[in-house]
Amino acid sequence: MENFNQIEKDILDKIKSIKNRNSYDSVKTEIFGKKGILTELFKKIGSLDQDQRKEFASRLNSLKTKVTEILEKKLNDFNQLEIDKKLKNENLDVTLPGRTYFSGKIHPVSQVIDEVTSIFSEIGFSVEEGPDVENEYYNFSALNTPENHPARDMHDTFYLEQSKDLLLRTHTSPVQIRTMLKGKPPFKIIAPGRTYRCDSDQTHSPMFHQLEGLHIGKNINMGHLKGCLYYFVKKFFEVEKVKIRFRPSHFPFTEPSAEVDIGYKIENGQIKVGDGDKWLEVLGCGMVHPNVLKNAKVNPKQYQGYAFGVGLDRLAMLKYGINDLRAFFESDIRWLEFYGFDPLDVPTNYRGLSR
Ligand code: DAH
Repeated sequence: MENFNQIEKDILDKIKSIKNRNSYDSVKTEIFGKKGILTELFKKIGSLDQDQRKEFASRLNSLKTKVTEILEKKLNDFNQLEIDKKLKNENLDVTLPGRTYFSGKIHPVSQVIDEVTSIFSEIGFSVEEGPDVENEYYNFSALNTPENHPARDMHDTFYLEQSKDLLLRTHTSPVQIRTMLKGKPPFKIIAPGRTYRCDSDQTHSPMFHQLEGLHIGKNINMGHLKGCLYYFVKKFFEVEKVKIRFRPSHFPFTEPSAEVDIGYKIENGQIKVGDGDKWLEVLGCGMVHPNVLKNAKVNPKQYQGYAFGVGLDRLAMLKYGINDLRAFFESDIRWLEFYGFDPLDVPTNYRGLSR
């Protein structure tokens, strides 16, 4: 009978001498290969006597099991070693949290400009722009605003030091004049943009945003103005029905002039636009004054139309529940994270104003 203890010792010595994957493979072949130590022993079983066979086979089998287990463990160790080496070399810890990236947010005012632009372009208005630095003529005179009008007061208007004639536009209305002077009627435009006045408190900022509207054609009347504004307010505030009040007012560049209030109520501490018995002023409007048309080289006997001016910051505050106007321009990134919009977000929900 074979000396199984010696055979086992030899095999274990061989396994101990394994240094790498290559020597592992060749040692494994030496043991289990076609002519391997154990293979040869298995071949012997058939030629043994009945009484020897049983013991021989059982010892051989347990040796095979033992050696197999030891080899498996060895292989595992090698694999683990390889993984460790790879991880070390690649310097990549897959368990580390992923890198966060910061995506920018759309400012509520930019969002509102996008919204109003899309609403008005659906009914045929195109977008015009004018410069922030205007001259007195476009900002006041051409808009039928006389020299002694209080709006021209140094108190309201930022004049530029370089020239007595230059100022930061106090409204987007000068874009009306620029548009009419460079084209021929009919005109149907909106002009969103920055405006400036020397004023600062919770509801006033020295820089703010307006949207100008101008529609000039052959038979444009106050009815068109009302229809257009109803459409706009309903679309913007996403309400089916809206209560609107046209209150007689005065602007030098329109006759007649009106201020528009929309009905609202407070529900659960939030403002609900469209219904209710409270009124909120949202814009100024009117039929363009014949003098303005004349100044813009449009014949008022042939053409007339309406104009309106909306405060965009106020619209944003109302629609998105923002209480303090000053926060709009403080560039606080946390505020923008909260009130800003994702670039791919198309908001449809009216959030209301919290009080
Ligand atoms: N420009 C006016 C303002 O800033 C707003 C305004 C009122 C614009 C009536 C208009 C208008 O076009 O027709 O207060």
